[in-house]
Amino acid sequence: MNKTILTGIRVNGELTLGNFLGALLPMVRLANQHSKDHQVNIFIPDLHTIISEIDGNLQQNILREIKYYLAAGLAVNENVHFYRQSYVPAHSELTWILNCITPMGEASRMIQFKEKGGDSANVGIFDYPILMAADILLYSATYIPVGEDQFQHLELTRNLAERFNRRFGEVFTVPLKTADQVKFMQQDAGLRIRDLLNPDKKMSKSTPSENSKIMLSDAPEKAAKKIMSATTDSLGKIKFDLFNQPGISNLLQIEALITDTPLQTVITTWAGQTSYGDLKRKVASSISAFLSDFQQQVEQIPDQLVLDLLASGEIYANQVANAKLHQVQKAMGLR
Ligand code: TRP
Repeated sequence: MNKTILTGIRVNGELTLGNFLGALLPMVRLANQHSKDHQVNIFIPDLHTIISEIDGNLQQNILREIKYYLAAGLAVNENVHFYRQSYVPAHSELTWILNCITPMGEASRMIQFKEKGGDSANVGIFDYPILMAADILLYSATYIPVGEDQFQHLELTRNLAERFNRRFGEVFTVPLKTADQVKFMQQDAGLRIRDLLNPDKKMSKSTPSENSKIMLSDAPEKAAKKIMSATTDSLGKIKFDLFNQPGISNLLQIEALITDTPLQTVITTWAGQTSYGDLKRKVASSISAFLSDFQQQVEQIPDQLVLDLLASGEIYANQVANAKLHQVQKAMGLR
């Protein structure tokens, strides 16, 4: 059986350029590299989405996100599977079972819960990582390309799989340790597109200031203006230095990714130059070209194509997930 690469990206509202360059595009690259001899599962965690207030039209957001993968160049073949989590009920069923082998203490230590938690948080927020473990374990996935903020959830998934296997027999495939995940992604874990106005922070959808972030649906000219007003520094010399010149480094990184040029090449081209204005004008024109091309491609993909992909992905996903769930149920004596 082929090894499985699996990831899910939440779909609450629109994605930022940071989500796109830091998460979606690397996944497309990985999928295209490996889909000949791996299963590639890309799913929409719609049940994870509803832990917070729903932003926009959920169905529209789901379709649009899959169009983004396609427009970003994901080559679909028989090993690539798109599906919606809530269309595969085994996710919820396995979550309940895993809940019963997770101590409260272990779940309470999850950083994301601590950040969003407290008495007013809903139980779904608390259970979020267990649902994520179910997402992964149902498909015996080995490689889970996620950002650093999800590493703790991945470790929890490994713990739950090992615990279950010890108690009930070898049912689950334990995903790789995070260090090995990072190696597989061949991506510097530090790749984070920064907030344009406060480049010490990552670009985030929830930042109130419009000029801090570029959204994938921004009008190209508007995005170009945001680049022109990005915060830089007063050192006056272009250098890739994330620590001392995070704003400039961010622009170099964005330029490399949207023009599909190796970062090193971009760094060398600009190193030592003194006009921040020239660099900004170049990145602004690249972003505007990139967005108008990308948005055009997204628009050309018919909804029906995406719905067909989902329908066949969900047949596949239900088969694999139900078979695993049945193994779990038998191992525990539920069947
Ligand atoms: N928690 C992930 C995020 O916030 C999304 C996600 C849900 C996920 N289930 C997953 C990612 C399983 C990888 C595998 O980005």
